[in-house]
Amino acid sequence: MNTKVVVGAQWGDEGKGKVTDYLAEGSDLIVRFQGGNNAGHTIEVDGKQYKLQLIPSGIIYGGRMNVIGNGVAFDPAAFFREADTLAQAGILVTPEVLAISDRVNLILPYHIELDRLKELARGSQDIGTTKKGIGPCYTDKYERSGIRMCDLMDRDTFSEKLNRNLEEKNRYITLVLNGEAMDAAAMEQQYLEYAERLRPFVKDTSVLIDQAIHAGKNVLFEGAQGMLLDIDYGTYPYVTSSNTTAGGVAAGAGIGPNRIREVVGVAKAYTTRVGKGPFPTELDNEIGEHIRQVGHEFGTVTGRSRRCGWLDLVILKTSARVSGLTSFVVTKLDTMAGIDPIRVCTGYEFNGTIIDYVPASLKDLAQCQPVYRDFKGWDESVAQIRDARDLPAEIIDYLTCIEEVTGVPVKTISVGPGRDETIER
Ligand code: GDP
Ligand code: IMO
Ligand code: MG
Repeated sequence: MNTKVVVGAQWGDEGKGKVTDYLAEGSDLIVRFQGGNNAGHTIEVDGKQYKLQLIPSGIIYGGRMNVIGNGVAFDPAAFFREADTLAQAGILVTPEVLAISDRVNLILPYHIELDRLKELARGSQDIGTTKKGIGPCYTDKYERSGIRMCDLMDRDTFSEKLNRNLEEKNRYITLVLNGEAMDAAAMEQQYLEYAERLRPFVKDTSVLIDQAIHAGKNVLFEGAQGMLLDIDYGTYPYVTSSNTTAGGVAAGAGIGPNRIREVVGVAKAYTTRVGKGPFPTELDNEIGEHIRQVGHEFGTVTGRSRRCGWLDLVILKTSARVSGLTSFVVTKLDTMAGIDPIRVCTGYEFNGTIIDYVPASLKDLAQCQPVYRDFKGWDESVAQIRDARDLPAEIIDYLTCIEEVTGVPVKTISVGPGRDETIER
């Protein structure tokens, strides 16, 4: 079985897109299994940048089959926008290179409006969502009023479900959230147009993936977001609405958990997060600002500044446990060049003891004081290194500490955004 999962080990934006593109060479099938167009992945090949949100990152490599699995929240409008942008860059998104599950839950315009209005209603307690309708779409899924791709493929079913849902949503939007009622007819017509364009892409993707696994093909599962945005193990409620950990693969792609062989955690050499919520190692100072500028830490989806901080090994250790990581890829080591000393959090001081896990309660997490170990910095020349034997002792020490604390080997490192700026150890 040649299956590999790529998941974010922090708060997202670890470089999963780059890593997936790098691993696409050795993959036949690349599968998204959760999230939606709240994700933002930047991939750089030969100096050219590509931005993806919903379509699997394997699309850039070419000649690979890509799958949007059933666990994804699928916005057809976002999909066509992205496919058009890719077409302009010479990458064609056709049914030959992409299949979409007939079980994906659809994002409808009322989900996006609900996301916006609910965030407004939360006031200063807002989550800082991407406002793509992700939370409201998954809410409907679990409440069992979601509209799935297979429903859209049948005009009558779609029409009936849409009208029933919108009647109820409109009451909620106008009476509870003080918003404006939305028009069903326009929405219906728009989605029925999408339906015909989507039809050739729609498949039972669980069957497709199963066939690939049985044929001995290499299947790569591409995660979106990161462990601390996981609906169960993240910093709830400052999380996204899906399981971003490796456990999400089985349900979100329709395969058995025993089909997963390797789980690769992607971690930055430091920590970032967008949106609100606790962040123990946050650097609200000039070092944080320096990392933000050098690392271009501004969101792909919303353009917001990413909050920056030191590497937190409590987070990576929690990630290793929850996702069963078999290796790490550590990215953006080049961004840390020139900082000296570099601090790494190896534990939290909490209630007079040292703990090595992320506590469930945000009140408890707010009380956790990072315990730091200091490392000697390295210089800019690391960006030019392509052979692990040329790595400076300072970086080896840094990586060894990650391995010792988490118990997971760092097999690959990244020293630049490009596909080739990657080093195998
Ligand atoms: P994702 O959401 O996990 O796919 O990550 P993003 O694409 O949102 O953010 C990672 C950013 O860092 C992107 O702009 C990448 O091009 C860039 N990147 C990835 N790896 C490296 C690296 O090793 N060094 C540098 N300088 N940039 C990197
Ligand atoms: P990638 O795949 C970073 C964050 C949002 C917000 C919270 C909930 O690029 O790593 P949502 O719209 O999902 O309901 O927002 O989750 N968030 C991300 N942060 N990277 C992402 O994806 C994210 N996707 C969602 O900023 O705090
Ligand atoms: Mg991102």
